Amino acid sequence: MKSYLDTTVDVYREAALAPDVGLCCTTTPVWALPGLDMPSIMLEMNYGCGSTVNPRDLVNDPSVLYVGVGGGMEVFQFSYFSRKKHGVIGIDVVDEMIDACKVNLQEAEKTNPWFKSEFVDLRKGDALNLPVDDNSIDVAAQNCLFNIFDKEDLKKAIAEMYRVLKPNGRLVLSDPVTEDPMPESLKNDETLRALCLSGSLPLDQYIKMLTDAGFGTIEIRAKRPYRVLGPKHYDTDKLIYLESVEVCAIKDPMPADGPCVFTGKTAIYYGDDEFFDDGEGHTLMQNSPLAICDKTAGALTKLNREDIYISDSTYFYDGGGCC
Ligand SMILES: C[S@@+](CC[C@H](N)C(=O)[O-])C[C@H]1O[C@@H](n2cnc3c(N)ncnc32)[C@H](O)[C@@H]1O
Repeated sequence: MKSYLDTTVDVYREAALAPDVGLCCTTTPVWALPGLDMPSIMLEMNYGCGSTVNPRDLVNDPSVLYVGVGGGMEVFQFSYFSRKKHGVIGIDVVDEMIDACKVNLQEAEKTNPWFKSEFVDLRKGDALNLPVDDNSIDVAAQNCLFNIFDKEDLKKAIAEMYRVLKPNGRLVLSDPVTEDPMPESLKNDETLRALCLSGSLPLDQYIKMLTDAGFGTIEIRAKRPYRVLGPKHYDTDKLIYLESVEVCAIKDPMPADGPCVFTGKTAIYYGDDEFFDDGEGHTLMQNSPLAICDKTAGALTKLNREDIYISDSTYFYDGGGCC
């Protein structure tokens, strides 16, 4: 029997054969880097909803895995940092998409003297059963693929990423999320799911799936407006607002008191002393911001002090601070 995964393959077979500009759409600007010339075909086949490429993750020559290659824009960007044969493994389940990505990488070779298409090891494979060894990857990425999966398959896909990552390795991802209820009719519409429009979860549910899989640290790096599904065009009475998030889930050991989830909160001490020490490893210097995870924000709030300010989540967290 045909499943929604077959419909997904059909949708992306077509998107491989003829670029579908706007199939996914992002307000994240495309990286401009010295000496990197992005072929226009890769821009037309940008089927992502954010960016998973962050130079901070790419120091110390990491092994990189990219699942769901699309037109190859992000595997090309990751190669910019690794610059070696098979430095980036790219996986896709759709033959035509692998072929299109191969052609686009060859196109990139023409105008980027530093680049060779052999930098990307393109493999046919399924996100639900990755053809990659256990504990072999430092940075694993996916952009606008996992939202298509139903909850059982999403659990499998996350578990697969966890399996292939080395200890302390990073899963970097971008996906749409929504805080609005998604009607069953839209959830079960296989084409809308494949188009990354109706499979979105609320952000806290997505985070829980990552921490349930074992990721001890989560960083919410960006959250941006993505789409609206309105009654005029979709089977819904109420407007559904989608945002796209960029998340980094780190395979750190799970802390005894639960995961550290950084959503961009900051603590600032403004009392009479030079600093405040909570005895749990957090020292707040006088009127200096300290990035804190949501667990620490909760613990500091419970102290009920009038000399500590806890800022709201910005959903733009890019490292630093403590848990
Ligand atoms: C929305 S597109 C995103 C493409 C690319 N990540 C980007 O940002 O442009 C989803 C990609 O995942 C691939 N795909 C779909 N189902 C897959 C699966 N089960 N395993 C691996 N790749 C899959 C599609 O062929 C397509 O290339």
